[in-house]
Amino acid sequence: MSLNSIPVIAIDGPSASGKGTIAQLVAKTLGFHYLDSGALYRLVALKALQTNVNPKDENKLVEIALNLDVSFEEEEIFLENNRVTEDIRTEECGIMASQLASYPRVREALITRQRAFRQSPGLVADGRDMGSVIFPDAILKVFLTASSEVRAERRYKQLIEKGINANIRDLQKDIQKRDERDSNRSVAPLRQNTDARLLDTTSLSILQAQNSVLEWYREYCANVRV
Ligand code: C5P
Repeated sequence: MSLNSIPVIAIDGPSASGKGTIAQLVAKTLGFHYLDSGALYRLVALKALQTNVNPKDENKLVEIALNLDVSFEEEEIFLENNRVTEDIRTEECGIMASQLASYPRVREALITRQRAFRQSPGLVADGRDMGSVIFPDAILKVFLTASSEVRAERRYKQLIEKGINANIRDLQKDIQKRDERDSNRSVAPLRQNTDARLLDTTSLSILQAQNSVLEWYREYCANVRV
């Protein structure tokens, strides 16, 4: 199978929209690989925070992104052999990730690493520019969203379940701030691309959202076979 014939499903959307959960479930159902591109930005952020790098020091951030010693094993993420699966999920890391993701050279430094996830039999790629920059030939592009209230509630539940303290109002404010920064930046802004299908999950269950994506994928497969 040549690299470009390996199907990619790209799922984008705002922070805490549930795209990670849905992308992972779709990947599992189809037996596809999964790329959590946000985790890569969060890993750069974590390393920068650990080594006191100034979020404005673009050169240092590029260096971190290029030399990131990271491995993904099942559901666990390791940075320099240390398990950081939960450490990268803090709001501090998310905010830093969103800041450094606005540097074009940091984004460029992560491109090859992201494309390496495209392996047979297929890939579900979750994140900002998956359908527009990293995998423009993705067979299905989904823009998954939900209201900021619902997203704050979901993030709150997630954090509490993981034993991380959180305040729902602060979370909503952070989500709105991040949406604004992600939408208004000039590089890879948060927006629904014209070739992406919109999936609003505000009043959908996880199962319903997952099934919508799977149905679109099956539609694609049926059309290709004709
Ligand atoms: O999706 P997640 O919240 O983990 O991503 C953290 C931040 O990384 C996002 O707010 C976004 O600014 C950035 N990001 C990005 N491009 C991606 C994935 C994430 O700019 N492909």
